[in-house]
Amino acid sequence: LFVGVDLGTSAVKLLLMDENGKIKNIVSKEYPLYFPHPGWSEQKPEDWFAQSMEGLKELLEGFDKDQVKGISFGGQMHGLVALDKEDQVIRPAILWNDGRTAKQTDYLNQVIGKEKLSEYTANIAFAGFTAPKILWMKENEPENFAKIAKIMLPKDYLAYRLSGSFCTEYSDASGMLLLDVEHKCWSAEMLEICGITEVQLPKLYESWEVVGTLKAEIAEELGVSDDVKVIAGAGDNAAAAVGTATVGDGGCNISLGTSGTLFISSKKFGVDKNNALHSFDHADGNYHLMGCMLSAASCNKWWMDEILKTKDYPAEQAGITRLGENHVFYLPYLMGERSPHNDPSARAAFIGMSMDSTREDMTQAVLEGVAFGLRDSLEVARSIGVNPERTKICGGGAKSPLWRKIIANVMNMKVDLIESEEGPGYGAAILAAVGCGVFDSVEEAAKKLVKVTGTEEPDPELVQKYEERYQEFKKLYPALKGFFQ
Ligand code: XUL
Repeated sequence: LFVGVDLGTSAVKLLLMDENGKIKNIVSKEYPLYFPHPGWSEQKPEDWFAQSMEGLKELLEGFDKDQVKGISFGGQMHGLVALDKEDQVIRPAILWNDGRTAKQTDYLNQVIGKEKLSEYTANIAFAGFTAPKILWMKENEPENFAKIAKIMLPKDYLAYRLSGSFCTEYSDASGMLLLDVEHKCWSAEMLEICGITEVQLPKLYESWEVVGTLKAEIAEELGVSDDVKVIAGAGDNAAAAVGTATVGDGGCNISLGTSGTLFISSKKFGVDKNNALHSFDHADGNYHLMGCMLSAASCNKWWMDEILKTKDYPAEQAGITRLGENHVFYLPYLMGERSPHNDPSARAAFIGMSMDSTREDMTQAVLEGVAFGLRDSLEVARSIGVNPERTKICGGGAKSPLWRKIIANVMNMKVDLIESEEGPGYGAAILAAVGCGVFDSVEEAAKKLVKVTGTEEPDPELVQKYEERYQEFKKLYPALKGFFQ
């Protein structure tokens, strides 16, 4: 048995998988998300660990614990976790969707310069990346900065607590803006710019590599053997790509989670000259390009939970029948936007309502606005000659047939459905199985285990209608940009 831990933003999801790829159990444990100032986003690493331990116990209940061979992770990316020399967390983790670093991001992009950053790391700075957060801490919390003994990413904190191994891997490290993505090593220039040294950074592994075994006291608490292997894992998007078999060359996956991502796998290293798509290492040993929206399924969750005050999402969507006809637009920028606008101050908006606009139109606009946001990233990919014809889809939002249909038509792509939409957790369990020697490679494992169960085909008439809507949508952010500043 293999455990995949998906350390998400709203909850940790744990998944138990057998050698044949069959999912035996899934458990989810929530933890709070803090917004101490508008645009800031923090969590407590201790909450991640406590809830993961609770979740692991529940996950394994009733199973033969001696059969557990390996555990691995897919984790929310970019978060800054800083420990002091006593291994205590210095301050709450600053998350991937935190927008406080506008000044440091500008410094990196304008003063150090995008060309230099791209030469050192293959990427430019975005507010959510780790390096600007380190600079923010240096500038705003010098006493905390001075205490930093170890810098790690969210899932690596779990690996550290479980195994004692101070480790990370290339896919997640790519999002720190400290890694030379092409050559898979820390960038000496970036470390110097951030005022840190390699001693403070974790050891780098490939995603399927074993970083250690469970600490004896952890194994005892969980009731498993202490030779359970801990495998490095991946950033949640790379893990999700493994979990949907988006590996090797030319695969595409859309993740509709708290964030929304368009992930394109590639065997060749490439950089987006528009600087809108991230160029990162993949968990299969290759590379990928990725566009990331900061609010995707979270837009719908906000709209349902906070505004409509309902938990019955399917019932709310059941009344939506006029696809392509909506006159309401929604801009999905609740937490600012990463790809392609790179603007932490952007905000959400509804536009174009009239007296006959209905609740259904508004809900539909939210789903469409997220699809248009993903289309923005697809347009950038197309502009550099990367034009995937079909995509997989995963994440909480992928459960909605209506949303999948909107996406297929807005993107004009075939959307392949897979047996389970548990992208990162399933991918992490696959990485654990590879690390334990069940498969020779991540690509082989993913292609063998992941099953496509159906396809949502775009409908030419709807594609045309959505094309016209998208051309209108595209004008809205530039028109409103000044207002958001
Ligand atoms: C990717 C990103 C998000 C988080 C969500 O660059 O910031 O997708 O990884 O957990």
